[in-house]
Amino acid sequence: MQISERVKALAESATLAVSAKAAAMKAEGIDVVSFGAGEPDFDTPEHIKQAAKDALDAGQTKYAKPAHGIPPLKEAICEKFERDNGLSYEPSQVIVTVGGKEALHLAFQALLDPGDEVIVPAPYWVSYPEQVKLAQGKNVIVVGDERNDYKLTPDQIEKALTNRSKVFVLNSPSNPGGFTYSPAELAATADVLRNSDVIVFSDEMYDRLIYDDTRFVSFATLPGMYERTITFNAGSKTFSMTGWRIGYAAGPEPVIKAMAKILSQTTSGTTTFGQAALGAALRADQACVEQMRQEFQRRAHHMHSRLNALPGVSCVKPTGAFYAFPNVSGTYSKLGVNGSVEFSAKVLEEGHVAVVPGVAFGCDSNVRLSFATSMQQIDKGLDRLEKLLGA
Ligand SMILES: Cc1ncc(COP(=O)(O)O)c(C=O)c1O
Repeated sequence: MQISERVKALAESATLAVSAKAAAMKAEGIDVVSFGAGEPDFDTPEHIKQAAKDALDAGQTKYAKPAHGIPPLKEAICEKFERDNGLSYEPSQVIVTVGGKEALHLAFQALLDPGDEVIVPAPYWVSYPEQVKLAQGKNVIVVGDERNDYKLTPDQIEKALTNRSKVFVLNSPSNPGGFTYSPAELAATADVLRNSDVIVFSDEMYDRLIYDDTRFVSFATLPGMYERTITFNAGSKTFSMTGWRIGYAAGPEPVIKAMAKILSQTTSGTTTFGQAALGAALRADQACVEQMRQEFQRRAHHMHSRLNALPGVSCVKPTGAFYAFPNVSGTYSKLGVNGSVEFSAKVLEEGHVAVVPGVAFGCDSNVRLSFATSMQQIDKGLDRLEKLLGA
């Protein structure tokens, strides 16, 4: 069977590949410490699970009506945007999807014509460039500088703009970078984009997971940006609901309608009882989110200081999300490796530590370590790295 050219050009998800190799080693009885996870290690809070059970008992087992999100959930999402982000959306501007991933995919499909350019800052979340390719768009990858915590400067963005630029992808807090754009940096970004017609995809999956004195600002709140921004979020990271597959997006009505049209012909939306649960999660007391945030913050501090103490390693301080993204290129010659894939293979085979090669995120000098794992596992894995690197 001949696979389509479009799909042949797609990359496999590197994050999933590492987890699979680590899982295979574990199945052989090897004690692998995995820093590969892209999901919280906490269970979904009890009151959220209970809301799903109640919805099932109440017979909410049919197709969601409408497919693009049940009205009570859309209202809860509008309340969340108002409360947490200072954003006013009407339910007609909101779509509910199969995870944040589907929302992004639908938006690329709805907006891109062949050859339209998408500015993707690197390090990037693995799926952006592949989703752009699927929509026949053209990736314009712009790499952030470590000295600027891997964030793009206004100058870099300006240079990347052409008359084919259609979308600018903003992911703050960042997976994998762990950085967060400051309010001033976002304002400067908006100043550059204001002179163009570019649409901004603001991926705000980690808006509630920020550390220390970091301030989160939703891009659509900046002057002139509301009309050109689509804001993406999900229950996945905030409420530890990755397996539930519920995401959402909000933005100008015409694009949300276009996304809903595709959804109606593809997935028919996500589970009805799951939507009831996310509605409950958004409306309930938010103490569970704060508890998880505090624990991630503690781990962020610890992992950051231990990584920076390793010879040949430098790590930007994580200010949000749950990833550290150290530059490990200073260890390559000592370890006899050439790039982040060989580095990751070596630490997995010899140190039994699973990390994700940075090349998957557009940065071959780095690797990603998730701290969505216990302090004990963090120390065990870093002890092993320390030994391997001869600290
Ligand atoms: C930056 C970013 N965007 C989107 C997603 C997709 O989230 P979901 O699991 O809700 O599809 C992820 C998940 O890893 C992410 O890290």
